[in-house]
Amino acid sequence: MTSQKLGRGVALVGAGMSKFGAFPGKNSRELFVDAFLEMSASVDKGLDPAAIEAVYIGNFSSELFEGQGHTAPIMTDWVGLNPVPATRVEGACASGGLALRQGILAIASGLYDMVMVGGIEKMTGLSTDGATDSLAAAADVSYEIPAGFTFPGMYAVIATAYMHEYGMTPETLLQVGYKNHEHGALNPKAQFGQRISDIMEARKASAARKGKPVPTWADEFEFLHDNTANPQIAWPLRLFDCSPVSDGAAVGLLVSEELARQFTDNPLYIIGTGQASDTALHGRPTLTSLPAARKAAQTAYDMAGVTPDDIKAVEVHDCFTIAEIVATEDLGFFKAGEGWKAVEDGLTTFGGSRPVNSSGGLKSKGHPVGASGIGQVIEIFHQLRGSAGSRQLPGSPNIGLTHNVGGTGQTCVVNIFERR
Ligand code: COA
Repeated sequence: MTSQKLGRGVALVGAGMSKFGAFPGKNSRELFVDAFLEMSASVDKGLDPAAIEAVYIGNFSSELFEGQGHTAPIMTDWVGLNPVPATRVEGACASGGLALRQGILAIASGLYDMVMVGGIEKMTGLSTDGATDSLAAAADVSYEIPAGFTFPGMYAVIATAYMHEYGMTPETLLQVGYKNHEHGALNPKAQFGQRISDIMEARKASAARKGKPVPTWADEFEFLHDNTANPQIAWPLRLFDCSPVSDGAAVGLLVSEELARQFTDNPLYIIGTGQASDTALHGRPTLTSLPAARKAAQTAYDMAGVTPDDIKAVEVHDCFTIAEIVATEDLGFFKAGEGWKAVEDGLTTFGGSRPVNSSGGLKSKGHPVGASGIGQVIEIFHQLRGSAGSRQLPGSPNIGLTHNVGGTGQTCVVNIFERR
């Protein structure tokens, strides 16, 4: 099959996000306004919002999390964009990546010249149990949930199968969480913008203040092995292997390639986009790879005419630490069964040859599920434009990729960006 092509070029000229975290006093529309205002301010040559012609918003389930459906026009209303067409896009945790793709397709079709894409989720109004039940709706409720699965449980199955097949141990998973906290500590928008060492010191100080015995962890890995500090959630996944329950919003501005330089001298061109679907985990022939991610990546690489080696900045969907390792293999950065060795060798951290999730990833930055796919785009926007501050990747990266997964891989979307 010949590679797919966009009908015309599309560029990203603005991007912004709210802080990710737990915000008891804020609802989703207020978080969306924060993201919109930052996006608007990021457009170098100015944005007249009246020129926005359509809006696509990723949201998994505002009904379950907030009791509020019909999300897209509410967000659009709150940022003053009525009466533009506002469409909600749902693909579980890939909702944001899909919203971006719908915006790309809408401009590539020639219908619109300027489209806003966004993502939003407000999860922390529910207890962890409530959030777990709501997230379960993204799994197969006929075959998986009645068997007792939760999302941590399903990714634990992937981790266990991967350990069995390739000889990895849970030690490697701890290193992924450690690395993403190191990265996230440099990201002011991150939910957990703390190194593990910072968290350890805070816990010690808190114990001392309360007159309780002060823990004596020798280093970060002793902390991560402590069943009290880092309890098992679903073996082999512990607390610091899991992305958190989060609130947050993110917004991007797409324009047709011809218009891009009216908005900035530094547009990012969308050179590849791919999406694929699959059976839920229970029905798949493999547990150690996400076939839909491989398919989406290949489609995007073929469209872009690039190979994995050309990707210089990458945000992957690390909802659990094992997911990051599998993603680096599905994207072709490492061979099947070798992603964990790359972690052991320090290749995926700052200073390594293949840094992954410079933002801190979903683990540290946070995972407001419908917003996460656009949150990844914000990081690529800054990395490719050289505005990532203290977490800026070296070598002036010119091509970036986002990898966004819904459920355990029933939906996968990969987008590739280039600074020319
Ligand atoms: N990583 C590190 N620390 C975390 C954390 C995480 N993922 N989640 C919560 N914490 C911290 C909290 O900040 C809090 O710290 P404090 O006591 O110093 O204030 C402490 O752990 C307890 O927080 P709480 O919210 O009560 O944790 P919990 O045990 O109820 O929930 C998880 C922890 C891992 C079960 C929950 O975050 C979870 O379900 N994550 C997965 C979400 C998910 O499945 N997303 C979709 C993926 S496909």
